[in-house]
Amino acid sequence: MTRTTSRPEGAAASGVGAGVRLHKLLARAGAGSLRECERLIREGRVRVGAQVVTAMGVLVGPDDEVRLDGQPVRREPLVHFVLHKPRGVVCTNLAQDPRPRAVDLVPTRLRVYTVGRLDSDTEGLLLVTNDGPLSQRLSHPRYKQEKTYLAKVSGAVSREALDGLRRGVRLAEGMTLPARVSLKHGGRQVSTLRITIREGMNRQVRRMIAHVGLKLRRLRRVSLGPLRLGSLPRGASRRLTRGELTALRKAAGISGR
Ligand code: URA
Repeated sequence: MTRTTSRPEGAAASGVGAGVRLHKLLARAGAGSLRECERLIREGRVRVGAQVVTAMGVLVGPDDEVRLDGQPVRREPLVHFVLHKPRGVVCTNLAQDPRPRAVDLVPTRLRVYTVGRLDSDTEGLLLVTNDGPLSQRLSHPRYKQEKTYLAKVSGAVSREALDGLRRGVRLAEGMTLPARVSLKHGGRQVSTLRITIREGMNRQVRRMIAHVGLKLRRLRRVSLGPLRLGSLPRGASRRLTRGELTALRKAAGISGR
């Protein structure tokens, strides 16, 4: 039968050896912030082996089975990468897709996925992680992050085209929201636009650009919320810094880690 324990700080649950504190283990597994994980424990939703643990500070060892709401808690570390996705690489996890996959460019054996998508022809910043709660938050409309793209187009860009992009254009799904748009380079042969949007309609920037009569040559995402692509080479990835992860979690409304 399941027992509830409210052991004091540092005491081990039965069969629980010295190791990591339970709320930290839950937070690392992506169950929530440290504070949220303490609440989960207090609410009696966490088990170590057969025992419901409600005390703070209980230590769990590597062999202890931890369950949250009856589901096993994964003990794998959370990983977060920024990838510079090259053209021709796809944002799918389907192993049977014959095209090169973004997830294969990231140096981890953990099962990771992309947060949001870039279409196959678009290159640039992609967040790749196994952090489910963060990914879910970032996909929620309330926490949608600003995304900035550099769009190289043929020829000069008219004032009307710039104003049209800024105001928003009518796509099949409806009007796009006003965007921040500036001309980074204006030439007669080619021009480069800097476009910041918050929505994520399918191939949105491509369709916005086509709508105002411009011919897109190349599209690259250079930022996502607080993350910047910087000088990361095409095809390369790097781990998020602690500061970036904190900023991203904050932007997603997750605090306390
Ligand atoms: N807009 C596009 O057209 N493509 C992307 O991949 C992202 C935004």
